[in-house]
Amino acid sequence: MRKLFSGLISLLILFSACQPAAKQNQSAAGADVENRVEELLAKMTLDEKIGQLNQYTSRWEMTGPAPANADSMFIYNMIKEGKLGSMLNVTGVAATRKVQQLAVDSSRLGIPLILGYDVVHGYRTMFPIPLGEAASWDPEVAKLSAKVAADESAAAGLHWTFAPMVDVSRDARWGRVMEGAGEDPYLGAQFAFARVKGFQGDDLAAENTIAACVKHFAAYGVAEAGRDYNTVDLSEQRLQNEILPPFKAAVEAGTATFMNSFNTLNGIPATGSVHLQRDILKGEWGFDGFVVSDWGSIGEMINHGAAASNREAAKLAMIAGSDMDMEANAYINELKGLIESGEVHESLVDDAVRRVLRIKFRLGLFDDPWKYCNPEREKNVILSEENLHAAREVAKKSIVLLKNDNNLLPLAKSGKKIAVIGELAASKDVPLGNWRAQAIPNSAVSLLEGITAVVGEQNVIFAKGPDYVISQRNFFTKLKFNETDVSGLDAAVKAARSAGVVVIALGEDCFQSGEGRSQSDISLKGLQQKLLDEVYKVNKNVVVVLMNGRALEINKMAETVPSILETWHLGSQAGNAIADVLFGNYNPSGKLPVSFPRSVGQLPMSYAHFSTGRPSGSDDVTLWSRYVDVANSPLFPFGYGLSYTTFEYSGLTISDSVLTKGGEIGATVTLKNSGERFGEEVVQLYIRDLVGSIARPVKELKGFQKIGLNAGESKEITFKITEKELEFFTEAAGWHTEPGQFKLWVGTSSAKGLEGSFELK
Ligand code: NOJ
Repeated sequence: MRKLFSGLISLLILFSACQPAAKQNQSAAGADVENRVEELLAKMTLDEKIGQLNQYTSRWEMTGPAPANADSMFIYNMIKEGKLGSMLNVTGVAATRKVQQLAVDSSRLGIPLILGYDVVHGYRTMFPIPLGEAASWDPEVAKLSAKVAADESAAAGLHWTFAPMVDVSRDARWGRVMEGAGEDPYLGAQFAFARVKGFQGDDLAAENTIAACVKHFAAYGVAEAGRDYNTVDLSEQRLQNEILPPFKAAVEAGTATFMNSFNTLNGIPATGSVHLQRDILKGEWGFDGFVVSDWGSIGEMINHGAAASNREAAKLAMIAGSDMDMEANAYINELKGLIESGEVHESLVDDAVRRVLRIKFRLGLFDDPWKYCNPEREKNVILSEENLHAAREVAKKSIVLLKNDNNLLPLAKSGKKIAVIGELAASKDVPLGNWRAQAIPNSAVSLLEGITAVVGEQNVIFAKGPDYVISQRNFFTKLKFNETDVSGLDAAVKAARSAGVVVIALGEDCFQSGEGRSQSDISLKGLQQKLLDEVYKVNKNVVVVLMNGRALEINKMAETVPSILETWHLGSQAGNAIADVLFGNYNPSGKLPVSFPRSVGQLPMSYAHFSTGRPSGSDDVTLWSRYVDVANSPLFPFGYGLSYTTFEYSGLTISDSVLTKGGEIGATVTLKNSGERFGEEVVQLYIRDLVGSIARPVKELKGFQKIGLNAGESKEITFKITEKELEFFTEAAGWHTEPGQFKLWVGTSSAKGLEGSFELK
């Protein structure tokens, strides 16, 4: 039965795969590419076609479970035989030239390889982790960071990054929250668009742009219990409304490729999902690039219990539209047999190969396979002064001021001695973050160095405190934390006692977040809370500098210390950027892209939750939708962040109380910088659809503007509202709007804004 069914699907899919090339190809250059693709395809044997769909990692760098064929010679032979279309984890002009030469000079058709790498937040010049960049609420910031990363990657022989990661996630237990733009589909869509543009520029064939790969398609960030690779069961409505918007935005930005995901979605592995890859991505959205599987994800369909063998997995994945097989050896070993037996139609393989070749042509690889192999460029571009400058600019804009009682910050540059405390404060490695590509270990400017550069060594007393991580630290190891050895605590207390102000760095090692880094507890690990408690006992002027890749549970800290600065893992220039903010050279302007929960037990959480039938009630009554041991609200809400100045919102007006279909209304507020220095504020628009054919979230972000104002200056800010902002998906009606009453808020965070209303007629 299953066989008959998949045969039928294969036929239907064959029909749609043979439809004229999708929307993106209509230009003359596009037509030329299409002709060249067809010409080449006509010359290829079936083996060569299948070879184009096969991807291996280099044997000297891995970002997944080690492959069985550990030998580089094996790879070189595969290339020469035309059995490899792509590699990952080959970097640098010399190494990339070597493999490319084999493909171009020694394979029968000389088809160049496409070489990919996880350039997630910089190649060697490291930028903030993507979650940090999203805290800038300035997509141009992410675009700049992606552009520099592309420039360095292209100079190092690469053609393709496995980024941006655009998974919406509302669960800080999931370690990969650090790679994306946080919890919100609207914010995520703006950042997805910007990042794709940053990597790809306007011309994929330019020597300083690379192909983007939007991942992980789809719903990977909704893993049950926040455990990586875990099951996802999600209604189509939530998938469409909450998860897919950033992916769609990336297609609109012209992303060249997609990566599918490890998880099942409603029982079907995403890698084998016709619905996701054929119906939505390649069908509805007209995506004409290719889809690469995630590492071994075709083979993992067996572990999911969705395929009995690699052969069946290959069949399901090919039928579903996974075009390239990363490291599962499923296509290279099984596709030919599947085609010969008639279980997979060759046209499906042709369609996949067409897509891969199309991107290789668009990158200009056939015209000049060596243009990414220029040692001069490699030397000059990577880690240039200009790139480091960009990294500092992006880093300072990614910092969020969470608390600042009595304006303890900014600190004076002279006068008081500063105690700088904590292992993370001196670390030149942690700020580089996870997914650090070719960052040089221990190359970041540490917080200690950043502070010392401003106030001079004579004004800094450093104390490391107790050890934090006591195991090896790298991409693969499970970290061990020091829970018992208090050596260093006394010295830290002494330093705190003798200083006017304490800057203490706490949070996470960079290898605490990232792939496979799920945690069931998101509070401070090791002896960090103890260190903070002891320090605070002797000096109340404490500034906590948080370094972390996810939202943390920090209630106790938030109740006590006067100032908290969220700095994520900020990259190569971390220490300088944090010092820019600590000493007021830059006025912090970031806002949280994720809610900070009061308790891990609240997760997953989002400001855009649903109302429930019992939405509120007195604290004394239990029969309402709430916890009996903690408030429903977050500790720090989505969109929240302070400044060294203050902003006042007033005079919300809505241009018309009625929005007609096809029409437009404006929501206007006056924003005033009511403090004493220049500052930037992210003005946010949230909307609630009060009654719908399905229940709607209590509010949803629908616009934001980052505005800079001088002290005392005011400005009117207007958001246009059209039907587009009110659209949502239901299974019954697809994407549509429904007439009725809407509420809106314009304000400083998801929890605070001026309220208005209008009607859609
Ligand atoms: C697995 C990860 O899920 C994916 O994001 C990454 O791009 C690949 N490995 C390749 O390293």
